[in-house]
Amino acid sequence: ARAVGTGAADAYGGRMVRDAPAMIDAERREFRRRLADDVRRGLGRAPRELPCKYLYDDRGSQLFEAITEQPEYYQTRTELAILTRRAAAIIDALQPRELVELGSGVGRKVRLLLAAMAERGLLRSCVLFDINASFLEASVARLARDYPDLDARGIEGDFLADLTQLGPGGHRLVLFLAGTIGNLPSADVPPFLERVAALLCPGDGFLVGLDLVKDPERLEAAYNHAAGVTADFNRNVLAVLNRELGADFDLAAFDHVARWDAEAECIDIRLRANRAQSVSIPGAELTLDFAEGDEIRTEVSCKYTRRSFEALLEGTGLRLARWDTDDQDDVALALLERA
Ligand code: AVJ
Repeated sequence: ARAVGTGAADAYGGRMVRDAPAMIDAERREFRRRLADDVRRGLGRAPRELPCKYLYDDRGSQLFEAITEQPEYYQTRTELAILTRRAAAIIDALQPRELVELGSGVGRKVRLLLAAMAERGLLRSCVLFDINASFLEASVARLARDYPDLDARGIEGDFLADLTQLGPGGHRLVLFLAGTIGNLPSADVPPFLERVAALLCPGDGFLVGLDLVKDPERLEAAYNHAAGVTADFNRNVLAVLNRELGADFDLAAFDHVARWDAEAECIDIRLRANRAQSVSIPGAELTLDFAEGDEIRTEVSCKYTRRSFEALLEGTGLRLARWDTDDQDDVALALLERA
């Protein structure tokens, strides 16, 4: 993890972006080493699978932004509408002085809450966590410009691995929006929630955005919309492996597949080889043989009900304090507190 910030002291053990280019090279090597390990582990055996965080390089992050504008992808605009309606009440209830966002992307939603905090004279600091350094730097720079007194920091990292960089809480509100919790491997969710609980003091909040179980046709359409942006987003992970590990994936040889898994209550997203082929990934010392129809799972996107989400909280040290939804019950904002 790497810190990006405007604050003078670097409380998170990271460093400023402007530091020596040599370090940047070292980080790039470290990134490739982690990627190569993940690729060996994920593609070296069946069922083939890649961690979804690698979807978010610059192009992938841009493509995700384009997904959020698709008419069939209701999630972003619905969550924004709920947040617009509820931001003031949430800030009034918690009176937070520090806002933390996990997986902030372009950071549009965080700004609604920051504005509500600023109006009440509460705003002190904001920490954005993201896997994409460019988006993170742009977001932190924008915050610093718009709120000169704000201690704005960014942590470039994986919030599953690097959460401890946050330090102790108090007057803290942590945001985990966009249904990103649904992208975590399900076995990782309870320990992740426990780790977040440990970063909260009594009175702190953890606001989680959830996509809710609904008509499978609408769910599948959100991931197979007419314009095909999600297909490009999905295939882009192969371009990441080509660039970073010298692989020779032919992107046109893989089709995008997104299906509703009714039992797991997840959208299951894959790339399916549309012909037999062999692919070499020198940076991971791997050669893969694909038969036509062979698949790589690139992402899962789990959907929840209030009941299934509350069941997930059991034993994690968190409890549901507030549950806000839109009129159609498409999306929920769950406010959690330490139990
Ligand atoms: C990152 C959770 C917002 O699972 O809906 C969108 C990512 N993947 N289309 C989701 C995604 C394919 C997205 N979130």
